[in-house]
Amino acid sequence: MPIFNDLNLKNWKESEIWTDSLWIISKRDKSEKHNGFYHGNFVPQIPHQIILRYTKKNDIVFDPFLGSGTTVYEAENLNRNFIGIDIQKKLVDYVGKNIEPKNNFSDLITGDSAKINTFEKVKESLKNHKKKKIQLAILHPPYADIIKFSDLKDDLSNIKSLKEFLEKFSIILKNTIEILEKDRYLVIVMGDKYTAGKWIPLGFYCMNEAQKLGLTLKSVIIKNMEGNRAKQNKEAIWRYRALSSDYYIFKHEYILIFKY
Ligand SMILES: C[S@@+](CC[C@H](N)C(=O)[O-])C[C@H]1O[C@@H](n2cnc3c(N)ncnc32)[C@H](O)[C@@H]1O
Repeated sequence: MPIFNDLNLKNWKESEIWTDSLWIISKRDKSEKHNGFYHGNFVPQIPHQIILRYTKKNDIVFDPFLGSGTTVYEAENLNRNFIGIDIQKKLVDYVGKNIEPKNNFSDLITGDSAKINTFEKVKESLKNHKKKKIQLAILHPPYADIIKFSDLKDDLSNIKSLKEFLEKFSIILKNTIEILEKDRYLVIVMGDKYTAGKWIPLGFYCMNEAQKLGLTLKSVIIKNMEGNRAKQNKEAIWRYRALSSDYYIFKHEYILIFKY
């Protein structure tokens, strides 16, 4: 049995864990607490698959970009402990009201994930539970400034230059690695963007930041982005724009799997 999950290889044929690098997810899981209200959230199937694949029951899952809490609800469903951070207090309060810790803990912190004092609170939470390290980190940052999440100056989505965005993201990676158990996994979910007629490969740049910090790249998963534009009836206009220009329309984002 792998040391990093609860998979019983004797019954491997029954496992629900996906092993291909192309994830075509046609429908968002809207069960239980996943109501999908938050613009910029990810589908629950992403944390569900990653948590099953890379953690055991009672391990600690860490998410420095909590958002609407998709990851914490999956951690809760799968009996994992959780520590999460978001810069927006109102989100942390909202998610906090929805969680129902039973045998596991879910600690939520309001703060800037690039700041040392925020990570001091993470370490305090670990200490309170008599734990030293986390076993899995899932990072779903803003895709630079594509969606503005808040007016807060330390919000990554308010950074205007790519260089500064990557510098700040790298600090958050570094803070996260410091609390990650050796031989465990860190996952980045990221999309690209267009600016001034250029494709900006944010996914590759973020991958590069993680590799610079010594993480080993284990997989690059491509996930489809079906749905959002269809929901807003914008597919036709995007297709017209693409045909009348020279680019392709984003249909994918990256799930980058690293081992520490
Ligand atoms: C892409 S969303 C995460 C969505 C989440 N995975 C979900 O499913 O709801 C990114 C989040 O990062 C938060 N954020 C932006 N800058 C931050 C920072 N410096 N520290 C902590 N959180 C930050 C935003 O408030 C936003 O909720």
